Amino acid sequence: QTARITVHPSFVVGEIDRRIFGSFVEHLGRAVYTGVFEPGHLTADADGFRGDVIDLTRELGTSLVRYPGGNFVSNYFWEDGVGPVEDRPTRIDLAWRTIEPNTFGTDEFMRWARKADVEPMMAVNLGTRGADAAANLVEYCNVPGGTAWSDRRRANGAEEPYGVKLWCLGNEMDGPWQIGHKTAEDYGKLASQAAQAMRRVDPSIEFVVCGSSSREMPTFGEWERVVLEHTFDDVDYISVHAYYQERDGDRRSFLASAASFEAFMHEVVATADAVAARRHSPKRLKLSVDEWNIWYISEFPGEDNLALLEEPRLIEDVYSGLDAVVAGDLLATLIRNADRVAVACLAQLVNVIAPMLTEPGGDAWKQTTFHPIALTAAHAQGVALDARVEGPTLATDKHGEVAGVSGTVTWDAASGSLVAILVNRTAEPVDAAVEHVGFADVALVEASVIVADDNVRGASSTDAASDLAARGAAAAPRALEGVTTADDVSTVPLLP
Ligand code: AHR
Repeated sequence: QTARITVHPSFVVGEIDRRIFGSFVEHLGRAVYTGVFEPGHLTADADGFRGDVIDLTRELGTSLVRYPGGNFVSNYFWEDGVGPVEDRPTRIDLAWRTIEPNTFGTDEFMRWARKADVEPMMAVNLGTRGADAAANLVEYCNVPGGTAWSDRRRANGAEEPYGVKLWCLGNEMDGPWQIGHKTAEDYGKLASQAAQAMRRVDPSIEFVVCGSSSREMPTFGEWERVVLEHTFDDVDYISVHAYYQERDGDRRSFLASAASFEAFMHEVVATADAVAARRHSPKRLKLSVDEWNIWYISEFPGEDNLALLEEPRLIEDVYSGLDAVVAGDLLATLIRNADRVAVACLAQLVNVIAPMLTEPGGDAWKQTTFHPIALTAAHAQGVALDARVEGPTLATDKHGEVAGVSGTVTWDAASGSLVAILVNRTAEPVDAAVEHVGFADVALVEASVIVADDNVRGASSTDAASDLAARGAAAAPRALEGVTTADDVSTVPLLP
């Protein structure tokens, strides 16, 4: 099989917003407790932040982290998580039915974000609370001082404001599982009111309004339309959440996940632009894909079966080599749509459906999915080019016929770096030719490959940490032999 990917420096899709390389830390399972935060751990600093997790977060290339949820935020009283730790209440987290000690809250997250060198992205509770609590949290975070909540922050040890720029107006409010789930009408009105109140506290902040929890939601499309009719003038981004998994051994459909992801994003963009057209508005909303990943949801017991435990092992998916290839394809697809995707968060960062796992009191290690994300974040810079791909197709039961090879090409004029991210979704080798017409003096610097030669998934609760770490390491990029560059064409032998 052969494929041809054609790019030209004049055909640009858009600037790559570094916030596309974001992630997510929710109070869920062991994401916070024994994930980012474990006082007493061998690598923990004076704040109790695990140094091994911070090191891996940097190596992953994480630019931004969304916090504190997720479903958790929809009944979160943020005031519980600030002030002297001994005064903070222990609560039942209704989303995941676990005990929340509140020993990690807003101030701890901001300190952690600074140490990990990531931009904080905050979500507010629009499930059981409203504009008042949300506006107070903006005041706590962003006002320099001289008001009740900003002075409370200073008294709690943070003299300088945090300057949080990006705010999510609730989480997955279309989902019946969400605490305080609402109709699109009710949510749209509340989100508009909350955004207006929050912006009066800090006019410089930006808002993400909730889109659908997945493309499969029965309300998808209509939800976006109605919500945006209420919030179009108040918000900057609309959220997209998307999780994929291999179901019933249907590997081909799983390998085509990124094609469905791309179609989903285009549908949300089309809906937002239709609302703009009805209003005769030139404004073009962008997407905040603030939850994306592979998640074996069908193996997840659901919120109803959870015991009220502290630090439970929840949703600790162990990924295969095949999962790494699909994760890489999903991230490349976000980059390819850089004209409309401004923010994206791999859900999540550590332990919970995550590219890294930890043991309490023990090691932290990379999962298979870590590798394509770190490799892409390190190399994809500048602008995404309009890469035209011709090649084999892949027939799937779930997504119809999709491109058998996906191609994403980025170009950074400042460093002179041209990067092609190619994914062979088929079961056969493909000889790919990248035609980089119009670039002077292209020379090959590096060619790496991630191979999906295992499709074994495990369980962090039963398998030894060393076995899991070895499985993660097996997907590390290897040197790809046989790549040649001559004149305007590079040829790349893609493995199945
Ligand atoms: O990321 C895990 C969960 O997935 C989040 O809490 C929720 O927003 C989504 O359903």
